[in-house]
Amino acid sequence: MDLKNLKNEIQEQIKKAEDLKTLNNIYKKYLGKKGEIAKIFSSLGGLPQKERKNVGQEINLLKKEVDNTINNKLKKVKSESKNTEVKEKKIDVTIPGKKIDQGHLHPLTLVQRELIRIFESMGFETVEGPEVETEWYNFNALNVPSDHPARDIQDTLWLKQDENKDSKKKLLMRTQTSPVQVRYMEKHNPPFRIIVPGRVFRNERTDASHDCGFYQCEGLMVDKNISVANFKAIMFAFLKEFFEENIDIRFRPGYFPFTEPSFEIDIRRKKEDWLELMGAGMVHPNVFKAAGLNANKWQGFAFGMGIDRLAMIKYNINDIRLFYSGNLKFLNQF
Ligand code: DAH
Repeated sequence: MDLKNLKNEIQEQIKKAEDLKTLNNIYKKYLGKKGEIAKIFSSLGGLPQKERKNVGQEINLLKKEVDNTINNKLKKVKSESKNTEVKEKKIDVTIPGKKIDQGHLHPLTLVQRELIRIFESMGFETVEGPEVETEWYNFNALNVPSDHPARDIQDTLWLKQDENKDSKKKLLMRTQTSPVQVRYMEKHNPPFRIIVPGRVFRNERTDASHDCGFYQCEGLMVDKNISVANFKAIMFAFLKEFFEENIDIRFRPGYFPFTEPSFEIDIRRKKEDWLELMGAGMVHPNVFKAAGLNANKWQGFAFGMGIDRLAMIKYNINDIRLFYSGNLKFLNQF
């Protein structure tokens, strides 16, 4: 048995090995329990005692040497593979970071917040009312009796229910924010000034200027001596601040059952076309009565403007449906 040859053979293989797996295989093949060296050990039994001792020592020496070389090589291969791993995974701190998408407010929210800010700065309180409303608050209490033709102006979405219910129980999606006037006046005594921003619903076909749901802002100011002049002053101040420029305002006679007199208000920017912005008027005595207030003692103005309309005019948007489209190309501009 040529131990020298065996040693060279093993060293040669270790030298060539380049990865952990090969090295482990070499270890198993030669130094393992059933490896070559173990086999030689077990064959020693057949040798004369003296020789056996010498050969045994030589094999032990060989075993140690091979063990050392393999361990050293293992360490080397391990550290090399770590180096390449670190190299490959190196973080390049000079690469620009990924931009995180930031959320932003919807244009209608922006306009509503601005509107609230301006009216609150003029002493108005912001209040809310229910979107599912009773027939009584949405129509009857606002001086629109059941057979009144004015109900046809606003196509109503009714909730599924017993047709013969009394008007105080019959439910609908509110067609206007005006019912909150009555709800508020039932619980508060004048003087007061409120605005009521909120969503309204119409059973309507949609087009560029109509949608079946949109936003309104109601206004109501009641005291002993409120006149149309007060309304005009407040509106001028609001519109000037909102549009950040002087704009033309036009009052036209209008008709609403809950105001007398009633008017429609148009506005115009930079001598462009007149655009209808809101309805308004002096609160009808029947509305005060429905809310339990003395119509001889109090008077006030009310208005209802379209928040969508304000936004369309402010940002030059020509289709109301864009607000509800979820179209990011549109929304990301705000
Ligand atoms: N509620 C009316 C509408 O939806 C708008 C309106 C007109 C509100 C006159 C008012 C008002 O308070 O006085 O068309």
